[in-house]
Amino acid sequence: MGYKEVYSAWQADPEKFWMDAAEKIDWDEKPSKALFDGNAPLYEWFSDGMVNTCWNAVDRHVEEGRGDQIAIMHESPITHSTKGITYKELQTRVASLAGALKMRGVEKGDRVIIYMPMIPEALEAMLACARIGAVHSVVFGGFAAHELAVRIDDCTPKAIIAASCGLEPGRTVHYKPLLDEAIEQAEHKPEFCVIFQREQEVAKLIEGRDFSWHGFQYGVKPADCVPVEGNHPAYILYTSGTTGQPKGVVRHTGGHLVALQWSMKNIYNIEAGDRFWAASDVGWVVGHSYICYGPLIAGATTVVFEGKPIGTPHPGVFWRIIQNNRIKSFFTAPTALRAIKREDPNGEWIKRYALHDLQALYLAGERADPATVEWAQKHLGVPVVDHWWQTETGWAIAANPIGIEELPTKVGSPSVPMPGYDIQVLDEGGHPVGAGQLGAIAIKLPLPPGTLPTLWNAEARFKKAYLEQFPGYYETGDAGYVDEDGYLYIMARTDDVINVAGHRLSTGAMEEVLAGHPDVAECAVIGVADELKGQTPLGFLCLSSGCNRPHEEIVKECVSRVREQIGPVAAFKLATVVDRLPKTRSGKILRATMVKIADGQEWKMPATIDDPAILDEITEALKGLGYPRK
Ligand code: COA
Ligand code: AMP
Repeated sequence: MGYKEVYSAWQADPEKFWMDAAEKIDWDEKPSKALFDGNAPLYEWFSDGMVNTCWNAVDRHVEEGRGDQIAIMHESPITHSTKGITYKELQTRVASLAGALKMRGVEKGDRVIIYMPMIPEALEAMLACARIGAVHSVVFGGFAAHELAVRIDDCTPKAIIAASCGLEPGRTVHYKPLLDEAIEQAEHKPEFCVIFQREQEVAKLIEGRDFSWHGFQYGVKPADCVPVEGNHPAYILYTSGTTGQPKGVVRHTGGHLVALQWSMKNIYNIEAGDRFWAASDVGWVVGHSYICYGPLIAGATTVVFEGKPIGTPHPGVFWRIIQNNRIKSFFTAPTALRAIKREDPNGEWIKRYALHDLQALYLAGERADPATVEWAQKHLGVPVVDHWWQTETGWAIAANPIGIEELPTKVGSPSVPMPGYDIQVLDEGGHPVGAGQLGAIAIKLPLPPGTLPTLWNAEARFKKAYLEQFPGYYETGDAGYVDEDGYLYIMARTDDVINVAGHRLSTGAMEEVLAGHPDVAECAVIGVADELKGQTPLGFLCLSSGCNRPHEEIVKECVSRVREQIGPVAAFKLATVVDRLPKTRSGKILRATMVKIADGQEWKMPATIDDPAILDEITEALKGLGYPRK
């Protein structure tokens, strides 16, 4: 069957489509049906099945004779080391950690926060939680203590599993002091912490609260897999929304397994025994779905990469790893390719490696700009698949499903909807617009298996954020259009989320931090175009009356505040002091117009502007910072 037939088969009988897909999963008790719609507009999938994620990702492959196959390959150019872990070893290690967690009282449904760098132990911690039905929440290492504290208070973990340190080029990230500070700041206190001591930095443990990874597991009985209901949360992953309070995206177990298994074969063309690599981080959704769970559920080999696309040690590191591990499908963010392209415009580093096994390159996380896609097509000579999805969906909404059929590529488009997704482009009144017309991108409910059923402890917020604007639809927060061939184009966000080097960040959260500075009366943060990172945040600060301190000093303090409170990943380095912010007569800050001025795009004077002269002041301030860039 080709793509059209597969998509039509789903349209004709979604229930049969997903029940068939569910056959690829080992259930302890099969679900009686796929969709549970009794609580619409909240939907669930496979709720009455009983299943275990870790069994499906690890144990079943050992049973099927794949015990000696490498499950996880740790490629760490930053520590100059490479290490493979077989499925059998992974099973032993995960069962041991799960046993230790259980012995310390972690039970089904308890939350466990994982704060770790790109080491195999991060995946082992995730799988150990899944093994006993505990709900993990992985926090990205580039977030600061305050962000970790916010997540601790929201998901109230019984335990936290962390590493002593992470390694960034030229800098050690001291995880343990960040963890201690976060626990200090949080109202909720975990019962205990497990610390993986890395040889690069041994952390000081707090007696009675902290255990070392190895000591913690010493002499414990390995734990078996605990079957859980299909609608049992597998994990919570926080993502940026409009405010400083991140959204806790919930993933249910049954749908997660079914959707990822389906996507591995049909989108990435990966089956048991194949080798797959997603160069992202376990702290992001790509890391959850396609470093940890997807490839392991499929019985493939996955790569955990601890390094950067450039500088660790050179811009050929991706190609070296693809060669050495004979990677078949490779997934990265466009920004990583832009970084490589900048240092290796003619693809000289690519030519040094034998990439015979590579069959396709997948890009996501941000818009794939045509120049980057074309550079990759030219130098790699394989299909370059831009695909579009979100933390909320957990897997691709639109893609070119290479495992079914390679569709013609249209550069600039993530191609076509995947089964399960009925994508509509809507006008402000919620009416579908015609081909080629720009609008808000929405997905007709129900969303498919594997997507978020709700937000953690925040059902009302879930409804308000995603379901209320267009009744009967899920609002993606992205705007774009569909062309006459049904290809989708993602053009911009409709909210205050920006995308910096493939990292999703909230300008609202940054504004909250800036507004906390004693001299800042009012502020606005916008995302301006950046050649390497896609977007970069830029802050405008209005100072409190009577403040006569040097502006540079205040800007510097504001930059540090964002780094300290949100983290280095915010990459907030640019801010300027202005007298006033441009607003509508009703008081709304005209951020979109400011973005257009900064990016050197054409813009119109908004009809509702309160005082047009302020835009001249903003233009001058931007000029002072070198915007628009040439
Ligand atoms: N732990 C701690 N700090 C981290 C971190 C982590 N896991 N990841 C990033 N940071 C820090 C960086 O060290 C940097 O700090 P600095 O201000 O002291 O230099 C800051 O956060 C910004 O990092 P980053 O956005 O990665 O920028 P960069 O300039 O270091 O590197 C790229 C630029 C393009 C090479 C890099 O962004 C990259 O590899 N991007 C790919 C992103 C990706 O895979 N995203 C996943 C979505 S699919
Ligand atoms: P995240 O939840 O971090 O995965 O970020 C999701 C957001 O990133 C989407 O809503 C889009 O705004 C953007 N995004 C992800 N993939 C793509 C893509 N292929 N093309 C354009 N934008 C993308």
